[in-house]
Amino acid sequence: MPEDRDCAVVTGAGSGIGRAVALELSKEPLTVLAIGRRSQALGETAVLAAGKVVTASADVTSDKGRSAILGKLSGASRVKYLVHAAGILPIERLTDITAESWRRVMTTNVDARLLLTQALIPKLCDGGRVLFIGSMSATKPRKGSAAYCTAMAASFMLHQCLKLELAPYAIRVTSAVPGPVNTIMIQNSLAADADVFPDSAEYAALREQGKLIEPNRVGQFYRWLLTHTDDETYSARQWDIRDESHHKFWLGSDTLYANA
Ligand SMILES: NC(=O)c1ccc[n+]([C@@H]2O[C@H](COP(=O)([O-])OP(=O)(O)OC[C@H]3O[C@@H](n4cnc5c(N)ncnc54)[C@H](OP(=O)(O)O)[C@@H]3O)[C@@H](O)[C@H]2O)c1
Repeated sequence: MPEDRDCAVVTGAGSGIGRAVALELSKEPLTVLAIGRRSQALGETAVLAAGKVVTASADVTSDKGRSAILGKLSGASRVKYLVHAAGILPIERLTDITAESWRRVMTTNVDARLLLTQALIPKLCDGGRVLFIGSMSATKPRKGSAAYCTAMAASFMLHQCLKLELAPYAIRVTSAVPGPVNTIMIQNSLAADADVFPDSAEYAALREQGKLIEPNRVGQFYRWLLTHTDDETYSARQWDIRDESHHKFWLGSDTLYANA
């Protein structure tokens, strides 16, 4: 990585929200490191960014994966933005879920966010920003996705505690809920057996009403949040893309929903 440029690290950048954030941040004077497990998906992100992102195929849940990320960053002196967008949402009843499946959700959606942030503290010091992608499922119990709901609730608390502990290092932490976004994760939820995941009907209704948000819109919101807010504003609260009070700053005359 070039030593003279600030870096942004975006996990889950091979698809959906992570890809959209990586593409938006690639318009800034930054080197963007796009992380995911599937190298082909990351390659597609790099093509969409006209080569303006660097990719690293790495599993954020493993020591090896996090070491690979650190290795890629070895030349970079500073990480300005760390965006945690890697996540999984298996549809399974609590009565059936295995210990292994439960653990996988926790290691991906919670542990990896802690351990990658921890590993990057030296490079985030003095002005770095950490962004957790939050979820409505952190406060809404849903049949069939209990592991995800539990993990996102834990992730919400984790970001709050990190915010307190990293403040002395001048590292700002926030969480921002993207609303229901038209990604693979939502498509999988829509395709799920309604007996196991009754809320698939809720997503289907939102799709019918044109109320699924496109990832590029979420990318625009997160870019504004990361690059155009002061430190106090950035970490004052958990953000929600649907809160209209900030739309004037980044959405302008556009609409949140593609079909509005
Ligand atoms: N879509 C929504 O409506 C919605 C709403 C609220 C919150 N969110 C959150 O937004 C984030 C992004 O989700 P999305 O909707 O964009 O879904 P997505 O397209 O499925 O993206 C998830 C990404 O995470 C990556 N990933 C999963 N496990 C990983 C691992 N162990 N190491 C590295 N990368 C990993 C996946 O790539 P690989 O498989 O290649 O690793 C994938 O690119 C998630 O944290 C999700 O909880 C989404």
